[in-house]
Amino acid sequence: MSNLGLGRGSGVDYTKGMVLGVLGSGSGSNMQAILDAIDAGTLDARIALVLSDNPEAYILERAKNRGIATGVIDCGGFRTKFPEEIQAITAARLQEAGVELVCLAGFLRLVKQPLLAAFPSRILNIHPALLPAFPGLESWKQALDAGVTESGCTVHFVDDGMDTGPIILQERVPVLAGDTPESLHARIQMAEHRLYPAAIRKVAAELD
Ligand code: GRF
Repeated sequence: MSNLGLGRGSGVDYTKGMVLGVLGSGSGSNMQAILDAIDAGTLDARIALVLSDNPEAYILERAKNRGIATGVIDCGGFRTKFPEEIQAITAARLQEAGVELVCLAGFLRLVKQPLLAAFPSRILNIHPALLPAFPGLESWKQALDAGVTESGCTVHFVDDGMDTGPIILQERVPVLAGDTPESLHARIQMAEHRLYPAAIRKVAAELD
């Protein structure tokens, strides 16, 4: 059941639309926003598979509660590395699930070959800053440290750099006097939840 109180049987046809696969390491609030947009009928898509490199991640719980297939990406104890052979296995799992578009949503490992080659121009990422400003980790802290008055979020195609691929959509977010890292991140996340479904809609329309 979504935040909107809609679920299966709500009139949304879950067999149609772009087939999405989601990779995440954390809470999964962006995946939830995608599901809410699907439930609200504003995004013609379905999520076929959710994978996480963290077996404890709440994103897996959210997906299971919705009856979405889930799996763990076992990186063999490496803390940040995403070994090539594991990327190949991940690509195969996504392909077997019929995934057409891969959405990284708080996924903390760098995607490289062979996953990129399996989904050319079909892997999206959401980043909590107005790229190319503040790539990498904890961008909201980077923005505060830099003293900017505006930050935001970006959805972009993934290439083999860190947060460098072609930009699909951005939303601006003001930095307010007295902001803490937490308050700024929370404001940026509210924008992210609007932006990700809109970016998927845009990509899907272009692929049609
Ligand atoms: C988001 O802020 C996203 O921009 C960043 O990681 C966070 C993931 O949050 N890459 P969630 O797991 O979607 O709640």
